[in-house]
Amino acid sequence: MGGQNPYIQGDEPKLPKKPYQLTIVDEHGQEHVLTIDPKDLPYQDHGLPGSILDICMHHGIELDHACGGVCACSTCHVHVLEGEKSCNEASEEEEDQLEEAYDLKANSRLGCQCVPDGSCNVKIRVPAWNRNLAREPHGAEGMTTKKD
Ligand code: FES
Repeated sequence: MGGQNPYIQGDEPKLPKKPYQLTIVDEHGQEHVLTIDPKDLPYQDHGLPGSILDICMHHGIELDHACGGVCACSTCHVHVLEGEKSCNEASEEEEDQLEEAYDLKANSRLGCQCVPDGSCNVKIRVPAWNRNLAREPHGAEGMTTKKD
């Protein structure tokens, strides 16, 4: 399953006009540094064209996407560490889904909805624990259980 959600209205996110560097810190802490060339976009593998999920899928970098990239889960949750200003604004539907994400932060985005415009380099981190009921538990490193 993949593609876009036809029920979500809004402006098409701007695709980059010049190459930019996307650094992805995966859930194991490994860094993947990619140069995203606009002439290769959109990949249209999953999520919005040119999205973080689209790029991850195209490059074989693991990012959960239980709903196939249509903004109907929160398993593609990422933290945008750098370059947030170059990313499209989150829609109301994205913010609703993000409320379900574990480890929600001010810089949280859904990878399938976050599309950098290439105006600066971007660095994102895939949290060690994303909420995917089909896969839990996985990557539980970094989880702490508080006992009173
Ligand atoms: S893959 Fe389900 S919201 Fe992004």
